[in-house]
Amino acid sequence: MDAIKDAVSSTLEKLNLTGGQGVPAKEPTEEQLNELKSKYAKAGQEQVFAFYDKLSSAEKAGLYEQLENFNPDYINEITDRALNPPQTESTESKIEPLPENATSSVLDSSAEDLQKWYDSGLELIAENKVAVVLMAGGQGTRLGSSDPKGCFNIGLPSSKSLFQLQGERIAKAEKLAKKKHGKEGVTIPWYVMTSGPTRAPTQKFFEEKNYFGLKKENVIIFEQGVLPCISNEGKILLESKSKVAVAPDGNGGLYQALINAGVVSDMGQRGIKHIHAYCVDNCLVKVADPAFIGFSAAKNVDIATKVVRKRDAKESVGLILQKNGRPDVVEYSEISTEDAEAKESSGLLKFRAANIVNHYYSYEFLESIPEWAKKLPHHVARKKIPYVNTETGETVKPEKPNGIKLEQFVFDCFPFLPLDKFACMEVKREDEFSPLKNASGEDSPQSSKKDIMAQGKKWVEVAGATVVSENPEEGVEVSPLISYGGEGLDFVKNTTITAPAVIENEP
Ligand code: UD1
Repeated sequence: MDAIKDAVSSTLEKLNLTGGQGVPAKEPTEEQLNELKSKYAKAGQEQVFAFYDKLSSAEKAGLYEQLENFNPDYINEITDRALNPPQTESTESKIEPLPENATSSVLDSSAEDLQKWYDSGLELIAENKVAVVLMAGGQGTRLGSSDPKGCFNIGLPSSKSLFQLQGERIAKAEKLAKKKHGKEGVTIPWYVMTSGPTRAPTQKFFEEKNYFGLKKENVIIFEQGVLPCISNEGKILLESKSKVAVAPDGNGGLYQALINAGVVSDMGQRGIKHIHAYCVDNCLVKVADPAFIGFSAAKNVDIATKVVRKRDAKESVGLILQKNGRPDVVEYSEISTEDAEAKESSGLLKFRAANIVNHYYSYEFLESIPEWAKKLPHHVARKKIPYVNTETGETVKPEKPNGIKLEQFVFDCFPFLPLDKFACMEVKREDEFSPLKNASGEDSPQSSKKDIMAQGKKWVEVAGATVVSENPEEGVEVSPLISYGGEGLDFVKNTTITAPAVIENEP
C-alpha cells in the first residue's frame, strides 16, 4: 500500500500537482485566483495565466500552486538587479590575490603541521562533530546526459559512480576515526542537495545502491529551490500551457535550502560543528578530509576553501582572491582577459588560486544564514529556453538564447566575512581535483578515470609494489574502502601488480 502511495505521490510531484506534502493540490477558489491574478498583473506578468481558463481542474491546481510559490515583484526585482547590477565602488574596484597570512599550502607546509591538522580533524570526526554537504543540483547539460552527474560511471574497472566513490570515502573516514580513537558509532552525516530535475533519480540511485553501505538515516537528500526562466523582455516564460519554465536557483541556492529543508537544525541536533561542502563532479574529492577540517578548525575561521594552481590563463575556474579587503571569488565568466593573463615576475599567473569548490563552514556561520541569505546577488545565464508563445499557443524551441536563468553562486557570501575569518588551503591538483565537465577531452570521463588510476598507481608504488603493464598509461584503481588517501596499503609491499588493476579487498 505504501509503495502504491509513494508511486502515486511521486508521479503527482513530477506533474507538479501536489500540495507540497504529497497531497494533490486543490483548484483555487475564484477569490484566491483573482487575488493571485491581480498580483501578477500589477507586476506586468499576467501572461502566465494566458491559458488558465482552458486547463483541466488538476492543471489549474498545479499552475496555481506553482505561481503562488513565487512573488512576481521579487522576481522582477532580482531580474532587474541581475541585468543592471548597481555600479558601486566595489564592482569597479581592483582585485588582488589573498594576503599570505590568509593562505596555507600543503605544498610548503611542514610535515608536522600537516600531521597535526590531520590528527585533529580525525578527532573531530570521532567526536561526531563533522558533517558533509554535497551540491548535486546541477543538470550536467555539458555532459550531454540527463542523469544526475553523480550517477555517472567514469569507466573505472569497478564501474563505480561518482556518488559511490564519495560515499565510500565517507565510510572510510568514519572507519579511520573509529580505529584511531576506539569509538563506536562514529558518524559523518551526508546531506545531499538535489534539485527538481535531479531529486527523484538521485534518491532512486542511492536506494538501489543501498546508500553505498552507509546508514540510510545518515544520508539526507534534500532539494534546492527553483526560479522562473525569464524572456529577454523580462517576462516569466511558460514551459507548457499549465507550467512555468523553471530552473534550479544556482549552487548558491544551497544556503536557503539548508534552512528551508531543516538541514541546519538537524546538524544542530546532532551536535555538528564543522562542515565540509563540495561539488559532485570531482572524482578525486577528499570528502570530509580530516586535514582540511583540522586546518580550518585550528584557524578558527567561518569559511575556508581549497584551491589548486590554475592550469593556464584560460581554464574555466573561479579565482579566490580579495576585493576591497574582503575574501571573494571572480568567476571565469566574469574575469577580464587582462586579469586572467596577468603574471608575477616569477612567471606564475598573478591570479592562480583556482576555486575547486571544497568549502569548510563553521556551524555558527550556517546558523547565521537567515541574516544574510537575501543579500546574495543573482547572476544571469543567457540560455535557449523552450517556451509556449502566450499569444499563439505554439511551443517554440529557440535556436539562439532567448532568455535568462537566474543563479546564485555559492561563494557570493565570502565577502560577508572579514579576512581573518577566512582561510585558503592550496592542495595538489593530482591529489584532489579532476572535475567531470565535458563529454570528451579535458575534464571528461576519460580524464577522471585516468586521474583515479594514476593516483592509485602512485599510492601502491609508494607502498612498495611494482606496477607493470604493456601500456605505461594504465593505472591501478584503489577502492576508497581500502585507502582514503594512500594509507593502509602495506599489504602490497614487494608485490607485482599488472595494470590495469583494481584493489577492492585486502588479502
Ligand atoms: C564551479 C565554480 C567555479 C569552480 C569550478 C570548479 C560556482 C558558481 N562555480 O563552476 O568557481 O572553479 O566549479 O570545478 O560554484 N549545482 C547545484 N545547483 C545548481 C547549479 C549547480 O547544486 O543550481 C552544483 C552542481 O551539481 C555542481 C556544482 O554546483 O556540483 C558546480 O556547478 P557547475 O555548474 O558545474 O559549476 P562550474 O561552472 O563548473
